Amino acid sequence: MKAVQILGEPSSPTVATNNEITKPVPKDAEILIKVHAAGITGDEITWPEPYNRATRIPGHDISGIVSELGPNYNGPLKVGHEIFAMISADRGEGQAEYAICTGNEVALKPKSISHAEAAALPIPLLTAYEALLDHGGIKSGMRVFITGASGSVGILAVQIAKWKFGAHVVGLASAQHHETLRKMGADEVFDYKIEGWETQFDKVGLVFDTVGGKVLEKCWKVVEDNGTLITIGDPAPSWAFGQGVAPEAVDHPGVRYKHFILSPESERLSQLGEMIDGGLVKPLKVEVFPFDDSVKAWAYARQRGRGNKAVISFV
Ligand SMILES: NC(=O)c1ccc[n+]([C@@H]2O[C@H](COP(=O)([O-])OP(=O)(O)OC[C@H]3O[C@@H](n4cnc5c(N)ncnc54)[C@H](OP(=O)(O)O)[C@@H]3O)[C@@H](O)[C@H]2O)c1
Repeated sequence: MKAVQILGEPSSPTVATNNEITKPVPKDAEILIKVHAAGITGDEITWPEPYNRATRIPGHDISGIVSELGPNYNGPLKVGHEIFAMISADRGEGQAEYAICTGNEVALKPKSISHAEAAALPIPLLTAYEALLDHGGIKSGMRVFITGASGSVGILAVQIAKWKFGAHVVGLASAQHHETLRKMGADEVFDYKIEGWETQFDKVGLVFDTVGGKVLEKCWKVVEDNGTLITIGDPAPSWAFGQGVAPEAVDHPGVRYKHFILSPESERLSQLGEMIDGGLVKPLKVEVFPFDDSVKAWAYARQRGRGNKAVISFV
């Protein structure tokens, strides 16, 4: 089958295509998906996981059709169902004609969008929701500040915070995206290119940072004394994964802070898909590349300021 591969080492990776990879066979309760489209998270090229897999196939976000069920599968899916899925962080191998999923990774695809649009959504949707609700404790009326608000996770987080949870949303993004963000539900928008943005609005109860680094450092200045700061910025801060205390916490002892890696959850993915079909949340804009242009797709996915989410089509 056709598949994308990340070859070389993390310090000098090469994206390649390969037409001669062995098609996987579902065992136990696994589900084999005929992949129609796969989304790209550009940072995956810097993660250790693809380099630890013999196949070197990246990819966690897919949309396609159930092709075969493992001998012990007894869940609700049937061959032929249209699905979208987030393959867990430690497995991947989604950027291929066929991919293996477990039951907890798969949900029925939203009917109102294409496979390419659906393939762009699982990681960004699940991450935004998990950050705001599970870790952030978002509530109606809460002031929520979202950095990288024009990014894949950010733009969905803006909409979910506003339309699902009724928060007052403050977004950080370059000026070219401000009008779109207002339409998506942001109440206030600020430009990270303007020095001193962190002093220009009232403090918030919840920060959801999708950028990290210097932006994360400044976020400590905008969170209320007893507020919450959640980050998924990549690379992770020094204190992530239980490796100590954030230096800023000394001056902000009441702030709860956390970095996390998202988890797959089929029931939640299904509910989020219903929000898309119901029109509460708009899908991401996608730039679709045919499989043969996968190298270009990855280059696009890794560009700053690109606007759209890169998706590879396998059909
Ligand atoms: N921990 C997890 O579970 C998890 C899950 C999903 C994603 N992530 C990570 O979260 C990050 C965001 O993901 P994504 O898919 O939303 O990425 P994305 O679509 O590329 O969006 C990134 C956003 O951050 C902004 N940005 C980048 N560098 C910036 C800087 N120095 N200052 C201000 N804004 C900056 C970009 O603005 P411009 O368009 O202006 O460049 C863009 O809006 C990535 O690093 C990704 O790896 C982690």
